[in-house]
Amino acid sequence: MTTRVVVGMQWGDEGKGKIVDILTSQADIVARYQGGANAGHTVVVGEQKFILHLIPSGILHPEKVCVIGNGVVIDLEYFFTEIDALKKRGINPEGRIWISQSAHLVMPYHKTMEAYEEEKRKDKIGTTLRGIGPAYQDKIARAGIRISDLWDKKIFEAKVKENLKSKQNVLKNSKENLSTAQIVKKVLSFKTKIKNYVRDTSLFLNQALKQNKNLLLEGAQGTLLDIDFGTYPFGTSSNTTVGGACTGLGIPPQAIDEVIGVAKAYSTRVGNGPFPTELSNSLGSFLRQKGDEFGATTSRPRRCGWLDLVVLKYATRINGVDELAITKLDVLDNLDEIKVCTGYKYKNEILDEFPQDQNLFEKCKPVYQTLPGWKTATQSITRIEKLPLNARRYLDYIQENTEAKIFLISTGCRREDTIFLD
Ligand code: IMP
Repeated sequence: MTTRVVVGMQWGDEGKGKIVDILTSQADIVARYQGGANAGHTVVVGEQKFILHLIPSGILHPEKVCVIGNGVVIDLEYFFTEIDALKKRGINPEGRIWISQSAHLVMPYHKTMEAYEEEKRKDKIGTTLRGIGPAYQDKIARAGIRISDLWDKKIFEAKVKENLKSKQNVLKNSKENLSTAQIVKKVLSFKTKIKNYVRDTSLFLNQALKQNKNLLLEGAQGTLLDIDFGTYPFGTSSNTTVGGACTGLGIPPQAIDEVIGVAKAYSTRVGNGPFPTELSNSLGSFLRQKGDEFGATTSRPRRCGWLDLVVLKYATRINGVDELAITKLDVLDNLDEIKVCTGYKYKNEILDEFPQDQNLFEKCKPVYQTLPGWKTATQSITRIEKLPLNARRYLDYIQENTEAKIFLISTGCRREDTIFLD
């Protein structure tokens, strides 16, 4: 019996979808613990490419069971769009996916609120506009609506009414029809369909643990987008880090055996906020094109830059990362030399730990170590001995500086383009 958690170590988009997909073969249940349809997990199976936003990528394995925990915020429209899209491609999720009855709903007015708030903000976050922040805002303010509220129309209606009343000054300029009656009708239209997918998922997972089942817990986004430990306020509204797995699924910390951190061989960020190693030049554009760095959810071009080892070291510490998966190594194949950030310069000081003061972090400049490139194609290599020496040195350097063991290297988007280390 093993419970593994997969977390992103940077700003999301590290390639967790592929890693979760690979590790699913060793799991019985795959559970998602936070975020919502803001995530975009890309998985390539044979000739087919799947982009999943809400449903764990474990669903692509026909015999596996998936869970969407209480920590996730659910937009029912997106959920069923995804279910229908899977069915059209021959994947039947019926009876294999369970949603927590305590998960909060992303309501139509959350998206309207978010658009308004982003517009109004001076320092824009650059959110995905999927209503994630406002849904979590309501949850924390104890005004949120949970899936189980759908079962009683009166209770549901009263909650929607109360919500609309308290948000009147934000919603008054909206062109959409946001009347209580319209919203109640729209969201309740999913009630019968969703009922078949809902259960007490915390109980289900704890029973699975008792039965010695293998669990794979899937985080969305990345450590630096975490609401507590990320580049606040430029991040998402949930705990993307390992603690979110316990609170977002209702399982105890002792249940976690292994934490797997996923990091890209360079850095990317989509949305605004500090990014010390960003390359706003032709090299940045090269990484974007070669790595196909465009958002899976919003198609926005991702900001690209060198690998930041201070970030990786921090993510290892916060999450207790045991093992590392390094993705997209092949994107660096053509470069003469490769830089890695080993510290930050702030005024006359060199910082080698990630600063918690975000006002200070914004002013940090990267301190680089330059490593030689390998100038050899590594795409689709499956054995470590086949990697060029400088690529192996690059990986060793990452391993030494993060103190986490690399167990997997991804050399392409297909399942087969993977090197497994002992
Ligand atoms: P939100 O999660 O939509 O509120 O967006 C907050 C910030 O997190 C923005 O900078 C988004 O671009 C970023 N973000 C949210 N989800 C993802 C993701 O799955 N990958 C990368 N960035 C994300």
